[in-house]
Amino acid sequence: MSRTLAILKPDCVRRNLIGDVVARIQKANFKIVGMKMIRLSKETAGEFYAVHRERPFYNDLVHFMTSGACVPMVLEKENAFEEFRRLIGATDPKEAQAGTIRRDFAESKQENIVHGSDSPDNAGREISFFFSERELVELYSEDVRK
Ligand code: RTP
Ligand code: MG
Repeated sequence: MSRTLAILKPDCVRRNLIGDVVARIQKANFKIVGMKMIRLSKETAGEFYAVHRERPFYNDLVHFMTSGACVPMVLEKENAFEEFRRLIGATDPKEAQAGTIRRDFAESKQENIVHGSDSPDNAGREISFFFSERELVELYSEDVRK
């Protein structure tokens, strides 16, 4: 079992699509082990996407990600990051495969509904960016009841 970080982006929240997208995620057999709603600051959004700092779309991306609430989630499944990237589809919804979340819900390459970690290392880093260990649920442990 492995974990990945998803973020329902401000367009998803604004368009009242949280439920639809979570339904897709659960139908694809991901287990949600962490979930919260937050409004990112410019600093936090900039740091999260720091890898894109030199890209032409960076300022627009930070502006978009701070434009409303986001819902970061920690998802658990075998091969979680790959499986989730497959479920969401290509960055640009016009290029995303039929049946993917971005193809079905996203309106543009920027406003593309959802983020997914792109490697196991980044998944680990991104999960701890948003969640402390105690905010993540131990789904299969009996120990918590002792
Ligand atoms: P993400 O990190 O959000 O899961 O998206 P991704 O891997 O599919 O794409 P990435 O290259 O990491 O880009 C991060 C986000 O920046 C916005 N973007 N806009 N206008 C543009 O050309 C452009 N390119 C990227 C998107 O919101 C993209 O998801
Ligand atoms: Mg990315």
